[in-house]
Amino acid sequence: MKAVILAGGMGTRLRPLTNEIPKPLVPLLGKPLIRYIIDALPDEVDQVLIAVSYRKDDLQRYFEEHDLGLDVVLVEEKEPLGTGGALKNVSPYLDDTFLAFNGDIISSLDLRAFIDFHRRKKGIGALALWRVEDPSAYGVVSMEGERISSFLEKPPPDKSPSDMINAGIYIFEQEILDHIPQGTVSLEKDVFPHILSLGLYGMVFDGLWVDCGTRESYLEAQRLLIGGRNVYCEGAEVSPLADLKDCTVLPGAKVGDRALIRRSIICPGAEVRAGEQVLDSIYLG
Ligand code: GTP
Repeated sequence: MKAVILAGGMGTRLRPLTNEIPKPLVPLLGKPLIRYIIDALPDEVDQVLIAVSYRKDDLQRYFEEHDLGLDVVLVEEKEPLGTGGALKNVSPYLDDTFLAFNGDIISSLDLRAFIDFHRRKKGIGALALWRVEDPSAYGVVSMEGERISSFLEKPPPDKSPSDMINAGIYIFEQEILDHIPQGTVSLEKDVFPHILSLGLYGMVFDGLWVDCGTRESYLEAQRLLIGGRNVYCEGAEVSPLADLKDCTVLPGAKVGDRALIRRSIICPGAEVRAGEQVLDSIYLG
């Protein structure tokens, strides 16, 4: 089976972090976001297609320098074509059922169970669904049993038809590609609402899920994964007199004596000076 990772977005909500690197390479506990997806792929995935555009050279270099033991192919869009346009652009490489992922998702979804779910339902595709208290910032789905009956993007608070949101993890039959028009296309807005009659199913899961696309959610992902410790990347300089908890110090960052840092990410080249306090921040220096 092949897996497509959408990795070409501009990541504007994560600026300035994404001025220098594409969002899929933004490090979480020192490991690029996209690796969390690749490392969790089931054995039956034998090729990963990465749909790239914005800062594609950085991704190319990363995969040249890191052998992940999988066949990785970067497929380029000259200009970002949106999530649907990116899938369409990968069409020549797809010949069967395939998995697809937003490249900025951290999740504990059991992909084997997800594949089995899709094979049982026999629809054109399936979406992983996550429950949230406030769905107003997300794409919300309504269900009839396990079948998706409608989509609503970012409903007003208290007007949401359900608490289930699109988790950005999909499995599709190749046939979906025939329903994606050429050009710039959003999978969520321009494709899904038009293929409901072909059977689009939703599998709700629990455990862990974070869309790391905003500064708040990126820090939240770190909070959930780090569990009270700190991650000091190679080349980070941290004074033994500094006091840190739930922090990542990235390569080339410095932390001085008696600095107090909590739940933060200290970015490459940033310097937290002696005695300085940093709380709940992406610290750029
Ligand atoms: P924002 O600018 O902050 O909205 O971020 P984004 O551009 O990454 O968009 P969004 O978070 O909605 O994207 C979800 C996933 O799809 C991310 O992994 C993106 O890299 C990817 N993505 C979004 N747009 C495109 C695109 O035009 N082409 C490709 N190949 N991937 C895309």
